[in-house]
Amino acid sequence: MKKLVLALGLALLAGPARAGYAPPVTDPLTVKACGECHMVFQPAFLPARSWGGIMDTLADHFGDNATMAPDKAAHIRKVLMEGAADTGGGRMGAKVMRRLDPGSTPLRITQTAPFLRKHDLPASIWKRPDVVTRSNCPACHAAADKGDYEDH
Ligand code: HEC
Ligand code: HEC
Repeated sequence: MKKLVLALGLALLAGPARAGYAPPVTDPLTVKACGECHMVFQPAFLPARSWGGIMDTLADHFGDNATMAPDKAAHIRKVLMEGAADTGGGRMGAKVMRRLDPGSTPLRITQTAPFLRKHDLPASIWKRPDVVTRSNCPACHAAADKGDYEDH
């Protein structure tokens, strides 16, 4: 019985069981390369084909040049595609896939239907000086880097 209670307790604490949780990237190379200019976005917010598209266009990455050595890029592509909404993205990934336009390959999380649905916020919030851009998740979700979007 004690063992069962403990197991239940651990299951409740474990991230993937919680709503509003997206498994964060743990691969050191990806964390370093994709965390240089912004938060390391959780792969669960986009389907694998989108991460492929992002890795194919690093030379013009939203106006920045984020090119890297081909072997490094291949490794990171694999990490992102394995954690994507339609692969290893868990409960958050499944939620994203349910609402995503099936014919689309969005390169921005912030332009997907699931994001827009949860972020129909007053314009005054987006204009807060600390927000800067919609992709600045940590401005409103203090633990965004840990994949926790429930408390904000
Ligand atoms: C040289 C700086 C730089 C690096 C390195 C970089 N990015 Fe970006 N990234 C940007 C900029 C600038 C934007 C646009 C931010 C905005 O408009 O809000 C962006 C936006 C994004 C977005 C879209 C955010 C949204 O609006 O939903 C994704 C996804 C993304 N980056 C993924 C990655 C991945 C994956 C890597 C690693 C392979 C990476 N980035 C590395 C600069 C960078
Ligand atoms: C300007 C503030 C702001 C920014 C920036 C922002 N969010 Fe949010 N987000 C919110 C608010 C407020 C809610 C709650 C909306 C609701 O519950 O209806 C929310 C809800 C969410 C949820 C739903 C949580 C749940 O319990 O289901 C997710 C997931 C999420 N945001 C992810 C992101 C991601 C990823 C980014 C960055 C790419 C981001 N947010 C950027 C304010 C923000």
